[in-house]
Amino acid sequence: MTSTDVLRPPPSDIKSRIKAWLMNWAMAHVGTVFRLLRAVWPIPHFGKFAAVTRYDDVKEVFASNSKFSVTYQAKLEVIMGKPQFFLGIDDDAQHNRATDAMRTVVRPADIPVRLVPAVLAAAEQAVAKAGGRIEVVDALVRQVTFDVLCDYFGTPDPPGADMRVWATRLFEFQFADPGNDPVLRKEVDVIAPAMQAHIQNLIDERKKSRGSKDDVLGRCIDKQAQGEPGFSDDDIRSALIGFVVGGLPQPPMVVPQALEQLLRRPAILAEAQQAAKDNDDKLLAGYLFEAMRFDPLAPGLMRIAAVDRTIAAATPRATKVAKGTSVLVAFSSAMMDERRIPEPRRFNPRRLPHEYMHFGFGMHTCFGIHINQALLPLMLKPLLKKDKFRRAPGRAGHLTKRGAFADTLSVEYLP
Ligand code: HEM
Repeated sequence: MTSTDVLRPPPSDIKSRIKAWLMNWAMAHVGTVFRLLRAVWPIPHFGKFAAVTRYDDVKEVFASNSKFSVTYQAKLEVIMGKPQFFLGIDDDAQHNRATDAMRTVVRPADIPVRLVPAVLAAAEQAVAKAGGRIEVVDALVRQVTFDVLCDYFGTPDPPGADMRVWATRLFEFQFADPGNDPVLRKEVDVIAPAMQAHIQNLIDERKKSRGSKDDVLGRCIDKQAQGEPGFSDDDIRSALIGFVVGGLPQPPMVVPQALEQLLRRPAILAEAQQAAKDNDDKLLAGYLFEAMRFDPLAPGLMRIAAVDRTIAAATPRATKVAKGTSVLVAFSSAMMDERRIPEPRRFNPRRLPHEYMHFGFGMHTCFGIHINQALLPLMLKPLLKKDKFRRAPGRAGHLTKRGAFADTLSVEYLP
């Protein structure tokens, strides 16, 4: 039996509630801790744990994929079964073969021609339907993300189940479950095989109706029929599960978080609204990605040292880490490092691309980076264009979080 809400219910026992409160408190203050570390102990290292907090060191570890391995493989196998998904692969050649294949079916040209109009239409419809008050996390961003991208990938809801629930539960297991919660694992053991069977069924059905729809799944089936490498059923199934599970739960986290940051800065919010009204999408994107820097996806991502290795060699902070050391790669800290980011605490919507690391860096840079760069700002555009745009009264008008996830944020506007 799995729960049917997109986010799992908050813990009810007192011990777990205190733990959750402490975790929220720690997350709210992690920026201050990183600031201190960047200045006095930029590569904290004790026992089998280390962290990199400065921009240069974060990029160094992300870029050294043969020396610092990703940590995803074991849980990816639970989610997808045996076939390898490229997020779990460290070897450049093997990784690039898989991503190169998928780039022939997830095409840059789709962004302006298909995805941008679809996101704008879906966001406009959600805002119009809500009629003057909308809950941004679920009714706007999650709705638009899953509607548009599931249609694009060719991965509709499973019969009698909800893709948003399945994807979010599997995402939590993969990326936000460091303590291996046994209750979550129980749900995952039901959802993961059901997800595999659902996607395999879609593949089988589409083979029977080849050419019926131009989407990522349809293109994969065509490539398979043409005998192209990288498109076995296993390859297609694990890629589609990877895109849905790894990608789609994230916009409903970071986009409402960015909006909350804009709402805290009324003068800047007014500028972002003007950019939306002027149809200046580039500047609007600047506001969104800058706001995300003040509340990014996560403090950092984990890697494991595959060999003994010195980080920041030939600098005074050079630190040798032994094979097997877990390394927190604090990209949130890198985006606040005054050594590389000019005036990092100032809100500046006109920063240069290299000042951001929202989508990682190096070989595992987000496969959806260009999709995200184009689409995330547009999810808010119809809302920001509205007159009298403001927080809803009371607590509903302030972003709440549940664990790693944004939970609710309601706003009002003239319909
Ligand atoms: C707000 C939205 C998103 C954010 C902030 C985000 C962020 C990231 C980050 C930081 C990584 C690097 C992981 C690592 O190095 O350990 C990554 C990888 C990845 N992302 Fe995204 N992502 C988003 C949306 C998406 C979407 C919509 C897709 C769908 C195509 C997607 C697909 C992937 C894939 C497949 C990888 C693995 C890339 C590889 O291993 O080469 N992401 N993402």
